[in-house]
Amino acid sequence: MKSRRNFLKTAALGAAALSLDGIPAAAASRGKGRKPIVVSTWDFGIAANRAAWGVLGKGGRALDAVEAGVHVPEADEKNVTVGYGGYPDRDGRVTLDACIMDEFGNCGSVAAIEHIKHPISVARKVMEKTPHVMLVGDGALQFALENGFRKENLLTPESEKAWKEWLKKAEYKPVINIENQQYEGKGTTAFNPLRLPGNAWNHDTIGMVALDAAGNLSGACTTSGMAFKMHGRVGDSPIIGAGLYVDNEIGAATATGVGEEVIRVVGSFLVVELMRQGYSPEAACKEAVLRIVKKKPAKAKEIQIGFLALNKKGEHGAYCLHPGFSYACTTGEKEEVLIKGKYYFQ
Ligand code: GLY
Repeated sequence: MKSRRNFLKTAALGAAALSLDGIPAAAASRGKGRKPIVVSTWDFGIAANRAAWGVLGKGGRALDAVEAGVHVPEADEKNVTVGYGGYPDRDGRVTLDACIMDEFGNCGSVAAIEHIKHPISVARKVMEKTPHVMLVGDGALQFALENGFRKENLLTPESEKAWKEWLKKAEYKPVINIENQQYEGKGTTAFNPLRLPGNAWNHDTIGMVALDAAGNLSGACTTSGMAFKMHGRVGDSPIIGAGLYVDNEIGAATATGVGEEVIRVVGSFLVVELMRQGYSPEAACKEAVLRIVKKKPAKAKEIQIGFLALNKKGEHGAYCLHPGFSYACTTGEKEEVLIKGKYYFQ
């Protein structure tokens, strides 16, 4: 009996040592042959995916992967659209929105939270430690501090300078794809706020969805929202169903761009429901974009919105209003790749 137990133990260790695309065999077999994959919005998704793969590649849970992944842009002071260094509201206050959702339909969210560098982790705590889904403003900050998060100044000198520049005219005009125009190159390369065109500003978001070796989906979405927004403005990113939705039977979706229009169509939920009806991820994203165009045709010409989706089979796709939206995709088979989203307005 003892020797049989030892044999089983040895066999299990042997199996754990073997790997499929770097995934421990035990985790890979739980996933019934599914291969992990992570996709996330914009060029800065490359660096975020790399961090997420640090979890997925070891057979870790998609939930842990997306949290680790979006920590990268949240902490990147050069990224002026997410977390630390994000552009403030018109009162000079950096207010952040984030949400997270797991394979069991659990979800957590924070909106208009100040002084916390990793709002995604506060959102996860809301999900795991409270009976609620969403905490906002001072309540979210109080909860974060009670749970060990550190209060920090998130307004960098560069963001403050940009805000003071903006105040001179106080223009409030989103510009399409400014996220990538500011971003010089790929991965960890820095934004350069001095290169912002004119006095026009926009914002954006990292949305990340992942499938793990156990075949489970999770997602995370985090942003500093629209630059120089009205104080108290909340976009789509912390709203479950708008900025992010995960249904572990079907797929997961996330959104980027002008949140007001995404909220109007409950965009990410819509994309997942379309995948339930048999649409491919790209076709589902396209249909959601068409819904926005139909509702607000004039507005759609002036703003950017992109949807990104991943289904249970690991197929992914995106669609956006205007050229310029990209997403990063990482699997165990190749390096992170940047994929251009197809678009409606030629
Ligand atoms: N999509 C981010 C926002 O509108 O705040």
